[in-house]
Amino acid sequence: MQQGNRVDSHTVLYGVIGDPIRHSKSPLMMNCAFRETGINGIYTAFHITASQLAAFIGGVRAMDIRGVNVTIPHKLDVMPYLDHIDESARLIGAVNTIVNNSGVLIGYNTDGLGYVRSLKEEVEPNLAGKRVVILGAGGAARGIIYGLAQEQVATIAVANRTFERAARLAEDFSLMAEVKAAGWEELETLCKSADLVINTTSVGMYPYVDETPASASWLKESAIASDLIYNPLETRFLREARLAGCRTHGGLGMFIYQGAYAFEYWTGQTAPAEAMRSCVLQALEAAAAAKS
Ligand code: ATR
Repeated sequence: MQQGNRVDSHTVLYGVIGDPIRHSKSPLMMNCAFRETGINGIYTAFHITASQLAAFIGGVRAMDIRGVNVTIPHKLDVMPYLDHIDESARLIGAVNTIVNNSGVLIGYNTDGLGYVRSLKEEVEPNLAGKRVVILGAGGAARGIIYGLAQEQVATIAVANRTFERAARLAEDFSLMAEVKAAGWEELETLCKSADLVINTTSVGMYPYVDETPASASWLKESAIASDLIYNPLETRFLREARLAGCRTHGGLGMFIYQGAYAFEYWTGQTAPAEAMRSCVLQALEAAAAAKS
C-alpha cells in the first residue's frame, strides 16, 4: 500500500506561503507527488502576511517543517531569515523554495531551472547557440536568464517597457551570459532574428486574454514562442504564433517543474512530473469550465 498522504505521527510537513494564497495550485500538485511516490508527507497553504513572516520562520524551525515554497509578496523579504542562500536565489534575487536541513534553512530559486527543464522536455532539447528575446525584465525574467545561462544560448536580448530595468538586469548577468538590454520599440527587429521569444510580462493574462505583447507576424516560422502565463493555458501570443507555424510553449510547464525541483531538493527522489501535470491541468480545466 502506498504511504503518501496517509497522515500519521511520522508525517513530514511541507507548505507554501503567500498573501494571497488561497488560489494556489501548489498543494494540489505536491500532495499528488507525495501520493504517487508513496512519501509520507503533507503539503498545505499558509496565509502569511508580511508582519507574520518572522513568526512563521520560527514555526518552520520549531515544527521541523521540511520544505516551504515562497510566493508573492515574500520572495525577497524571506531571505534575511535564512541560514544560507544558494547561488540560484542570490543571482535571481529571490527565494521560491526553502529546504530545512535539521534546522539549517537554505533558500533556492527553482523558477528558471524549472522553466528550462520544461522547455527542453516539451519543445526543444538543445538550446545551445539559440538567439533568445525576453519580453519583460522583472523577477520572472531574471529566473529565466539564470536558467538559460546554463544552456550556452548564443545571445539574450531583454526588451522592457522601462528600459532602465532591462539595463540593470543585463548588467547583473553580464558575467554569466551574453545579455543585452533593449527598448520596447526594438522588439520587432529583435523578434525577426530570434530562435526563441519568451513573454515574461503579464500581458495576455486572464482576464485580459485579448491582449498580446508582440505580433506573431514578427516571428520566424522556425522560432519557438514561449509564454510564462498559464491562465489561459494558451495565450493570444501563443495561439497566433501556433497559427503562424511556430512551435509554442505555455507557462504550465514552468509551474510544474519549479515544483518538481523543489520536491527533488526536499525528498531526494525524482518528481512524478507527469502525474503532477495532470492533477494541475484537471483542476485548471475544471475551473475554466466553471467560469464559462
Ligand atoms: P514578475 O516577477 O512576474 O516578473 P514584475 O517584477 O512585476 O513581475 O515584472 C513585470 C514585468 O512585466 C516588467 O518587466 C513590466 O515592465 P516594467 O518594468 O516596464 O514595469 C512588464 N509589464 C507589465 N505590464 C506590462 C505592459 N502592459 N506592457 C509591457 N510590459 C509590461
